[in-house]
Amino acid sequence: MVRIAPSLLSADFTNLRGEVADVEKGGADLLHLDVMDGNFVPNITFGPPLVKSINGSTDMILDCHLMIEDPLFYAKPFADAGADWISFHIEASGLDADQVIDRLLELGVKPSIAINPDTTLYRLKPLLDRLYMVLVMSVFPGFGGQKFIPEVVPRIKELRDLGFEGEIEVDGGIDAVTAPHVVEAGATVLVAGSAVFGNPDRAGAIDAIRAAAAPAENGAEA
Ligand code: DX5
Ligand code: ZN
Repeated sequence: MVRIAPSLLSADFTNLRGEVADVEKGGADLLHLDVMDGNFVPNITFGPPLVKSINGSTDMILDCHLMIEDPLFYAKPFADAGADWISFHIEASGLDADQVIDRLLELGVKPSIAINPDTTLYRLKPLLDRLYMVLVMSVFPGFGGQKFIPEVVPRIKELRDLGFEGEIEVDGGIDAVTAPHVVEAGATVLVAGSAVFGNPDRAGAIDAIRAAAAPAENGAEA
């Protein structure tokens, strides 16, 4: 079954405890945490102390999306803070992806690589059998509330054609309209920021995405 990961980026930051509780009660499977360093992307969000606080207030899986230049250095602080899954970007400069994966596995974290809409999937090919998940970006990273880029949909299928059997997470512009397309192509985890936190009824928003995606599971027509 498809898992739904609300992105905290679109939450009301003055009421984080309430927002986290709301989506947990509303049936979210994971909490997606967008970490931005003002360097890899032109925006800054939060770091390990906030992840640690969130970890103390929820049982949801913490799915950290690191949009940062130095995931090797920050792997341990985020793992110590309670990150369960960590995605780092293949586009980070000077990256040794194998070394970061080694580090994440050593820390007991599920390793995942995030890939931008315009980066060739072949860069992931030699790494696929080491990854728990691939995070396919369906917008350019940096901000919530952007429009879904439909050209990324075939990339999900291509990833399956490369033999990848792990989780495929799609992030950016996911709502009840776009969800069926990515699920039909093979996505198993859906990030939704504005579609969930922009709706006062979080449970309703999560249910709507799940219900829209359900007929498309296992490659059936949406
Ligand atoms: C973008 C982030 C996304 C974003 C998703 O850089 O990685 O997780 O918050 O937000 P929506 O669902 O509003 O596109
Ligand atoms: Zn994200």
